[in-house]
Amino acid sequence: MELGTGIKERRSVRRFEERKIDHAVLREIVETARYAPSWKNTQIVGYIVVEDREKIAALSSEACMAGFSYNCKTVASAPAVVLAVYETGISGFEKDGTPSTKKGAGWEMFDAGIAVQTFCLAAYEKGLGTVILGYFDEDEIAKVIDIPDGKHIAAVIPMGYPEKMPPAPARKEADELLTFL
Ligand SMILES: Cc1cc2nc3c(=O)[nH]c(=O)nc-3n(C[C@H](O)[C@H](O)[C@H](O)COP(=O)(O)O)c2cc1C
Repeated sequence: MELGTGIKERRSVRRFEERKIDHAVLREIVETARYAPSWKNTQIVGYIVVEDREKIAALSSEACMAGFSYNCKTVASAPAVVLAVYETGISGFEKDGTPSTKKGAGWEMFDAGIAVQTFCLAAYEKGLGTVILGYFDEDEIAKVIDIPDGKHIAAVIPMGYPEKMPPAPARKEADELLTFL
């Protein structure tokens, strides 16, 4: 798939077929996603793939989805729910723990965003749909899934084979986004 085509045609998918995702395919997706750039190549982002139906049902609760019921339905319909987790205190920090820039810990989520988009594009290339969820409650999710010490959840990503691809929401024109000085 041509890179520009993948970037333009990837959509947020919120309804999935029941079909399971082969672990070999998930591994190939992460094999691609691991080339995402990161602060000083610190590579702080990892992926926990939840496939257990009971755990997915628990993740789809109002509590885990921070009361955003739209997300509850999306999670419940996914054959796999990926938790993008990141290690804190490394990206954007010097070895002695002092922040490298005025953005402090901001680079952690910056790295996570790049990693997650790379993951979603790699999944799209394999015919899989994904949606990045920002409405979730990390503390509630930690009651369901064992999140390793020192790690935080950057995003919840339901994924699976799309029931159908939604149309593209409107985008700003390039001229609105671009300034030449
Ligand atoms: C940081 C972030 C958080 C998002 N949170 C949610 C969410 O909680 N629920 C949801 O259904 N979609 C969520 N989305 C998906 C956006 O709504 C979607 O990307 C946007 O409408 C553009 O649609 P497209 O991805 O199909 O191009 C999120 C996307 C991003 C990047």
